[in-house]
Amino acid sequence: MGCKYLRACVEEALRMAPGVPGYLVRESGRDGVIDGHIIPARANVGVPGWTKHRDPAVFPEPQVFKPQRWLTDSDEELRRLRSAHFPFSYGPRACIGKNLAYNTIYLTMARIAFLFEIESREPLPLEFHVKDHFAAGSKNGPFLKFTPAK
Ligand code: HEM
Repeated sequence: MGCKYLRACVEEALRMAPGVPGYLVRESGRDGVIDGHIIPARANVGVPGWTKHRDPAVFPEPQVFKPQRWLTDSDEELRRLRSAHFPFSYGPRACIGKNLAYNTIYLTMARIAFLFEIESREPLPLEFHVKDHFAAGSKNGPFLKFTPAK
């Protein structure tokens, strides 16, 4: 599969800034125990992508944009990363438009990078925060400057 670095950048961007950062509610089917906590049947449960995507046990230096973490040759390591990375959710209610979304992002980012030099208008903070509602919103930047590439 080509465009490895582009794909790695997209995975890393979706890790740090998932479009749906909060937790997507599911109802537990029966009583159970997760990590020592009793979860009764019919309780609302969920895992927020924002938090899991910043698990330092899986993603060391989680606040740093590091596309190279996705460029490993180890299938086992890739499986480990993917097990904690779910910008499109998992399971039967996961995003039905995932492949269309990925291909649209690849095409758009590749074209923009081809056409423009991109720089930040101001020094970048370590990470941007987004407001947690169903889809990420209320971002305050980054504000970028696009100059036609020579
Ligand atoms: C970056 C772009 C996108 C992101 C981050 C995203 C994310 C998600 C997530 C996290 C869910 C799961 C909701 C849940 O579990 O309750 C979802 C569901 C869904 N997405 Fe997307 N999505 C994207 C693009 C698209 C596109 C392009 C389409 C259609 C062309 C689409 C159609 C859907 C549909 C229909 C569902 C509901 C599936 C179901 O409930 O059975 N999404 N999306």
